[in-house]
Amino acid sequence: MLTATTLEQTREEMHEKLRGIVPEVEIDYKAEIAYEINRLKKEKNAVILGHNYMEPALFHSVPDYVGDSLGLSRIAAKADADIIIFCGVEFMAETAKILNPTKTVLLPAAKAGCSLAASITAEDVRNLKARFPGVPVVTYVNTYADVKAETDICCTSGNAAAVINSLDTDNVIFLPDEYLARNVAEQTGKNIIVPTTNGVNVNFDTSGDFNMVGWHGKCEVHDKFSVEDIQNIRLQFPDVAVVSHPECSPEVVHASDFAGSTREMIDYVKNVDAERYLLLTECSMGDNIAASVPEKDMLRLCSVRCPHMNQITMEETLDALRYNQYEIHIDEDIRVKAAKAVERMIAIG
Ligand code: 13P
Ligand code: SF4
Repeated sequence: MLTATTLEQTREEMHEKLRGIVPEVEIDYKAEIAYEINRLKKEKNAVILGHNYMEPALFHSVPDYVGDSLGLSRIAAKADADIIIFCGVEFMAETAKILNPTKTVLLPAAKAGCSLAASITAEDVRNLKARFPGVPVVTYVNTYADVKAETDICCTSGNAAAVINSLDTDNVIFLPDEYLARNVAEQTGKNIIVPTTNGVNVNFDTSGDFNMVGWHGKCEVHDKFSVEDIQNIRLQFPDVAVVSHPECSPEVVHASDFAGSTREMIDYVKNVDAERYLLLTECSMGDNIAASVPEKDMLRLCSVRCPHMNQITMEETLDALRYNQYEIHIDEDIRVKAAKAVERMIAIG
């Protein structure tokens, strides 16, 4: 967050922070928007939460808090401003509303989806519960409120193993990310089955031993990274530390030096010494870390931008404040049920 109180100071601070990361002319233009956002934010008693995937000029200028899904959920739950502006995607803004329903929660884009959240419906979860009765359902927070409402407990990539270990049963349904489920199954010693689908029917092979049931959702960003990418990079830079997100395939995670949530990835770069680092995740995060810790050598070779996170711009954030758009509304019955699953997760710590 900036300390600037004038437009000139805003410009200076943003140049200082973003030099070499964002073109100078873009910084000048965005400094004017940042100044206006920060002015209006105070006037309207709003708080801005920014996910680690926000583009660098936005990330380093207007959020009061930045972080991963788990960290931002915790902050959203306790926020006492009148308006929460969530610079992230829709399921994140929904989680803020679930946890803090009396506040006005705004998403600065008419639509900012997520391929994981889109991969499963509440009806799919009801069908799974009918198929595997009595088995607790753990749902990744990258889902919509009606899906959360059907589940026992939520998790993020930062606490998925802890959430599973907190259940007093061996069997678990883990939705909807196939790769996160496979990675967590390995961590928790579970045998997982994942359905195949032709887009209409979903088929499980239940002939072998299993105690975890997954789903076929994928993150369209993390699905793009391959072991071959890592091998090629290591040939060029043998001393690189490869840091991946657990939404990457297990093969990619195995070939990496570390895997963790976006906050854990940032902590790794800050705390573990390496000659250079490659992040296998949404590419804005590499730029954001490069601006925060300029002494670290980040290989900024990634070009995979999440098209949904990319909907959240500084212009849209300013419009969100000016016109109170786009407000998140959740049916109260669904919200109350979803809140149980999210609050149960938060209580785990
Ligand atoms: P984090 O919970 O690690 O911030 O990740 C959210 C996300 O959408 C990753 O693609
Ligand atoms: Fe969803 Fe992937 Fe984008 Fe994260 S990066 S919001 S999981 S599509």
